[in-house]
Amino acid sequence: MKTSLSSYYKEKIQDHQHTEMSEPEFIAAMEDSMEPLRQFFSYYKCAIMEIETKFRVLNEQFSLDGESNPIEFIQSRVKSYGSIYRKVESKGLPLTLDAIEEEIHDIAGIRVVCSFIQDIYRLADCFLSQDDIFLIERKDYISSPKPNGYRSLHLIVAVPIFLENEKRMVKAEVQLRTIAMDFWASLEHKLRYKKDLPAEKLELLANGLKECADESARWDDRMQGIKNMLEED
Ligand code: GTP
Ligand code: MG
Repeated sequence: MKTSLSSYYKEKIQDHQHTEMSEPEFIAAMEDSMEPLRQFFSYYKCAIMEIETKFRVLNEQFSLDGESNPIEFIQSRVKSYGSIYRKVESKGLPLTLDAIEEEIHDIAGIRVVCSFIQDIYRLADCFLSQDDIFLIERKDYISSPKPNGYRSLHLIVAVPIFLENEKRMVKAEVQLRTIAMDFWASLEHKLRYKKDLPAEKLELLANGLKECADESARWDDRMQGIKNMLEED
């Protein structure tokens, strides 16, 4: 679909400009205009459902092995229009659905939060070994944290969704992290959007956050160590 998003509605409405439109016709024209967008975003909602189910199934399976559930919670979202727009701008892409589908990999986002680091890798390995999951990119910010201290395991994948008459491959970003990583990332995220702070204060906060990131990484390792010792007996 090569339609430019900004011109799409205008064209549709302008098509009817010279004809008298009744209310039902106007509503039908509006719904008709929105249909491609609804369809576009529904693919991502379906991909989220597929991926969430895969993690819920793994969680259930692991708990049958006599272990407690590895997943604490799952959060998913479809990227907001504003956030898509900002990413398109920052990457210098054309504002078309084709470019958005091709170049933006996190329109569907699934965050899987666990208590323990080893569960993250175990879940990720099981998920990636499924024959309908195609790995596009794996970024391990746990073994190599970002300079600010950000840690998480990121997987960009494509998953098939089965529709009435077609099978479509849809991309999604899965972020796996511990509770500690998630706690840290949510506070750091707040700092990211405080553009109006004086440089000195910003540096102080960033340094504080980096220390917290290092401490929480040590915590994650120690908690894992304690769990492993408990399970030795
Ligand atoms: P972008 O999404 O454009 O940043 O693409 P990228 O290729 O740089 O991906 P990256 O793996 O760096 O980040 C993808 C997502 O991970 C972001 O949209 C955030 O949700 C999360 N993330 C990455 N880095 C940070 C960070 O430093 N702090 C926080 N709070 N979240 C981050
Ligand atoms: Mg980034």
